[in-house]
Amino acid sequence: MRAPLTTRILGTNPADIDAAAAVLSGGGLVAFPTETVYGLGADACHGRAIADVYAAKGRPSFNPLIAHVDSLARAETLVVFDARARALAAAFWPGPLTLVLPQRPDNGVSDLVTAGLDTLAIRVPTHPVAQALLAAFGGPVAAPSANPSGAISPTRAAHVTDGLSGRIDAVVDGGACDVGVESTIIGLADAPTLLRPGGVPVEAIEACLGTPLQHMKTGDGVSAPGQLRSHYAPTAPVRLNRMVAGTGTLWLGFGPNCAGADRNLSPSGDLHEAAANLFTHLRALDDLAKGQTIDVAPVPEHGLGLAINDRLRRAAAPRG
Ligand code: TXA
Ligand code: MG
Repeated sequence: MRAPLTTRILGTNPADIDAAAAVLSGGGLVAFPTETVYGLGADACHGRAIADVYAAKGRPSFNPLIAHVDSLARAETLVVFDARARALAAAFWPGPLTLVLPQRPDNGVSDLVTAGLDTLAIRVPTHPVAQALLAAFGGPVAAPSANPSGAISPTRAAHVTDGLSGRIDAVVDGGACDVGVESTIIGLADAPTLLRPGGVPVEAIEACLGTPLQHMKTGDGVSAPGQLRSHYAPTAPVRLNRMVAGTGTLWLGFGPNCAGADRNLSPSGDLHEAAANLFTHLRALDDLAKGQTIDVAPVPEHGLGLAINDRLRRAAAPRG
């Protein structure tokens, strides 16, 4: 266990981005904004730094990490693209899509990033601060969401420091994340498979590929933290599909028919707005809850609603 660190808060000016890149080059841990959520970044080729990421998050080390790069060209040096992967990258990169592809031998990425798998999850984020940091660093940055394992993902720098202050070297404060739920993860080692719904709607991916995606069943293969049942969890108990405000409970609404809700994911019923608000509203209600249950209104199961409902089901899953 490392001694407590002083976590620096960095801005997004060029000098601070260079300082953040220098911390990464020295094997340190830097949280940074992406369009989905804040990531906890470390040099993907530096085994000790990756071990520190797992330790800082308290994450089971069998759960592999996503490598972030600034461009398709750099991604091609790490993994092998086929026609399907190229089509998805052309349509959705930079952006909230992660592709799981066969690794190139000797790509230098630490086995701790992939948990020993022969595939690597890779993504090119579109957030300008993430782009600037990845370009300044000049290599792959492994970055899980910057929260203690199992807790609510961070969409603001203050969420990161709430959970990880003293355990990481720096946070680059780039404001609130636009998308608000993590990237969609597509496995392409075999038939195209949805490994986690996220910021790119499944319908858009299927339209691009021209085929339906296979769906990963819970309990299959690699356990992703996004696939552990209880995850993204507030401290308060969570119940789903509640259309009325209960007594002694807090109510998280969605859409125009939730008068009296303590928070509303999107009063107009817009799924993009709801995704962007999801983790912030869950945190705010958790702070207010003090033992009360959080009841959540139904969210439609299409577009970004798939990712929102996936996170809500895990937040409501039995803890343990
Ligand atoms: O939007 C995002 O994806 C954010 C930002 C920071 O980029 N990152 C993120 O990372 O959500 P994390 O570690 O919280 O989730 C990564 C997911 C996990 O469910 C992990 O198991 C899965 O990716 N994963 C990573 N490598 C994999 C692989 N080789 N095969 C299958 N799943 C993999
Ligand atoms: Mg996560």
